[in-house]
Amino acid sequence: MPQRAPTKTAADLVPSKRSLPALREAAAGCTACDLFARGTQTVFGEGPPSARAILVGEQPGDAEDRAGRPFVGPAGRLLDTSLEQAGIDRRQVYVTNVVKHFKWEPRGTRRIHAKPNMPEIRACRPWLEAEIAAVKPQIVICLGATAAQAILGKDFRVTRDRGRILEAEIAPFVMATVHPSSILRAPDPASRHAETERFIEDLRGVAHLVAEPRGARLAAGMR
Ligand code: URA
Ligand code: SF4
Repeated sequence: MPQRAPTKTAADLVPSKRSLPALREAAAGCTACDLFARGTQTVFGEGPPSARAILVGEQPGDAEDRAGRPFVGPAGRLLDTSLEQAGIDRRQVYVTNVVKHFKWEPRGTRRIHAKPNMPEIRACRPWLEAEIAAVKPQIVICLGATAAQAILGKDFRVTRDRGRILEAEIAPFVMATVHPSSILRAPDPASRHAETERFIEDLRGVAHLVAEPRGARLAAGMR
């Protein structure tokens, strides 16, 4: 009988010291799935270790792959302005992705986003779990179906249950909404505007869970 190779995941690479800097350093050398060879670098999450919210996207895009930081391209700019309008300071939240390497296909001279598959999502999951365990957020906010299904299970439907505050095992609360990239793909300015407003509304609904008590913010010497 041919033996099936054990599923390779990042689990063996997660260091025993689970601080964010230790995790980031270990993830920089991750080769647990084939995507490490396609992207420029591991794009690890970033934000204050005491953040009360973790925002989870799908995977870094072209701009993130070059910068080595999550959500710094067009989707990131839409995220920033939407957070601001929802009353959430991006510098107060931890931002990361389900998959930490950019997956792309060539089209002419451009690198076009390709969706991560299940084995890649599974391989990368230990990093996300370790980030959540290190930050211990009050709420995990899933941006788009990939994040929502990674956190809430494959039957979760963003279209049906977006914006709802759910109780979960991974954090006291989880909320899933659309991915900002899906808003950027809206067919016309009117629907883009409407989708942006709905996105802001979903974020506004959890702003009270994200805001830190003033005392804690002062003690942490927030920027
Ligand atoms: N899309 C994502 O899901 N994550 C990023 O970091 C950028 C774009
Ligand atoms: Fe490792 Fe994730 Fe990159 Fe795959 S995508 S090599 S699991 S960090």
